[in-house]
Amino acid sequence: QKDGYRFFMEKEIYEQSSVIADTLLGRVTEKEVIFEELDSQLFDGINEIKLCACGTSYHAALTASYMFERYSKVKTSVEIASEFRYREPIMTADTLFVVISQSGETADTLETLKMAKNAGLKTLVICNVDNSSMVRLADATILTRAGVEKGVASTKAFATQVTVFWMLSLYLAQLKQSLMQESIEKQLELLRSIPACVKVEESMHERIKRLSKRYLHGHGFFFIGRDIFFPLALEGALKLKEISYLHAEGYPSGEMKHGPIALADPELFTIALLPEHLLYEKSRSNVEELSARDSTICAISPIEFDKADDFIETKNQKDYMLEFFEMMVAVQLLSLEISVRLGNDVDMPRNLAKSVTVE
Ligand code: M6R
Repeated sequence: QKDGYRFFMEKEIYEQSSVIADTLLGRVTEKEVIFEELDSQLFDGINEIKLCACGTSYHAALTASYMFERYSKVKTSVEIASEFRYREPIMTADTLFVVISQSGETADTLETLKMAKNAGLKTLVICNVDNSSMVRLADATILTRAGVEKGVASTKAFATQVTVFWMLSLYLAQLKQSLMQESIEKQLELLRSIPACVKVEESMHERIKRLSKRYLHGHGFFFIGRDIFFPLALEGALKLKEISYLHAEGYPSGEMKHGPIALADPELFTIALLPEHLLYEKSRSNVEELSARDSTICAISPIEFDKADDFIETKNQKDYMLEFFEMMVAVQLLSLEISVRLGNDVDMPRNLAKSVTVE
């Protein structure tokens, strides 16, 4: 069933290209995004979007918030479900409440959906499991089509969630006419090239296998990035924590100087996301500061970085969104290979369950 792969997680990383293609199927033409499952009336009178989720799905939601504000020009906020439940949030009827879940069964997320329904809000779920509790409860559903995900560490579900959010942000841009048709068409072309850009290159995988040996012992990891690469940094750190049991944090690159840089020494590993098309110079100078304080640096970038101890070269993509997807594969593989070297059970990490139905 693993089809020759060592772990389901590895198989699922390799499957991302095809499940993203499935997720795009019938939804993206040359001219527009189509969601047959959505009634555009769902968005009537909506001035704000609130996204709510846990874990990796929360990171996908954070990524979405950048896209909804940038492309759809809709005010967006993001909530951790287990926090949202217990405060007394203000919910107004002009807010669309969106929950994101691979399983559709996560207890905390499900409860927030009930809260939103009780408050009279319109609700939408982005989910990978048809007929799950959240799908049955929400007003509308978009399915992610990632197929069954067996690895506890989510990979292909995240990839399809971000793909759906990118499509949805353009769908909203069409409805609200917040982007010129020409820009939408450019974005659609980029969307169609995600499957090619997440195909795992054997040379990149081999390089990551080799360099992973440097990162087995140390006192911690910082994954750093700016803009949407910040949620990707959070996701990279979560992946590594889950399956390697090493301490890792995701940080916005610009925040390092406000405290965390005090930890820098050769045993502090920085995984730096340095896309070419988004704040490259600013991000680079943050990494230089860490390098000057002797942190061991692994740069993930299409542009060679001479201050890095290791360099994972990505391709020259046309746009930062495609760089996001390529770097996503790189951080997933890095976590996988570190965990394999440490001899851990990648698919069944200790203390974790695939679906968290307890509160
Ligand atoms: O099924 P859900 O997307 O609601 O699950 C949420 C989290 O439990 C899940 O993403 C968890 O963080 C994963 N193990 C991450 O790899």
